[in-house]
Amino acid sequence: MDDQAKQLRELLQRSQAFARSTRLIAVTSGKGGVGKSNFTLNFALGLIEKGQKVVIFDVDLGLANLDVLMGISPKKHLLHLLEPQHSVWDIIEKGPNGLEFIAGGSGFTQLQNLDEQKLQILFDRLAELQGYADTILFDTGAGISRESLGFMLASDEILLVTTPEPTSITDAYAVIKMIHSQPKHPPIRLVINRATSVQEGKNTAEKLFTVSKRFLNMELGTLGYLPDDSFVSKAVKQQKPFLLSYPHSQAAKGIKELVNGYLGKAASPELPGGLRGFISKMRGFIK
Ligand SMILES: Nc1ncnc2c1ncn2[C@@H]1O[C@H](COP(=O)(O)OP(=O)(O)OP(=O)(O)O)[C@@H](O)[C@H]1O
Ligand SMILES: [Mg+2]
Repeated sequence: MDDQAKQLRELLQRSQAFARSTRLIAVTSGKGGVGKSNFTLNFALGLIEKGQKVVIFDVDLGLANLDVLMGISPKKHLLHLLEPQHSVWDIIEKGPNGLEFIAGGSGFTQLQNLDEQKLQILFDRLAELQGYADTILFDTGAGISRESLGFMLASDEILLVTTPEPTSITDAYAVIKMIHSQPKHPPIRLVINRATSVQEGKNTAEKLFTVSKRFLNMELGTLGYLPDDSFVSKAVKQQKPFLLSYPHSQAAKGIKELVNGYLGKAASPELPGGLRGFISKMRGFIK
């Protein structure tokens, strides 16, 4: 009985939610370990604090670990989406504060090797989410695999995370070049993570602005800067997002500023293509 009531409640919540327009964001980086997953998770929780409904897809197909950052052992993951008996609602895991996520599954590499039938199943499942969430975040793997590129190009916006280290900046630029070489791509905004001062954050963004403008004639945006903060590592060790475990830390304050900036100013005036746009762009990319 309880189960039935719960199902009904969930069904009702879903039907109320379906009027939303969904914005898809791919979070990516050139170099690994620059803080993508921590940013994605805490940014999602920041959006939730502001009343948004958010779903994260862990599409770091080799090294998925979003669940570890929340101390959750997922029962289902992305690969289960391909099994006809599951709906997308069976696969979504619940995180803290109403956050929902689809855990990554290793072995899901090589999207283009999925046969037509499997792809259709995957896209049908994803389409079920249209209008369900305000924001869907893809936590992609570092570097430029073909799968990550597909997720980036099919999203409404790309957030590119870099730290001020020269290696991270160079690798971020390689990603920018790769995206730029595509016939069409969504806008890119930078997230400078682990800045030791506002000035260092600004200088890092400035370097990428300058080279992108000079060599690619391409304008980048910035979402903002996140400070280097030892509370991030503490929270990771405790497997609790820092926004919740250390809400007064500098990193948490930084996330809140980025959330306000994001909600205040969209990357482009165009309406998000949402999941339908995503699926048609993904189809075009895979073929
Ligand atoms: N703002 C920060 N201040 C201090 N340390 C940080 C910060 N952001 C990330 N870190 C450190 O970097 C580590 C890696 O972060 P995270 O797992 O989010 O990176 P990632 O880019 O997702 O890595 P991968 O490429 O392996 O997916 C964290 O465990 C933490 O120790
Ligand atoms: Mg990660």
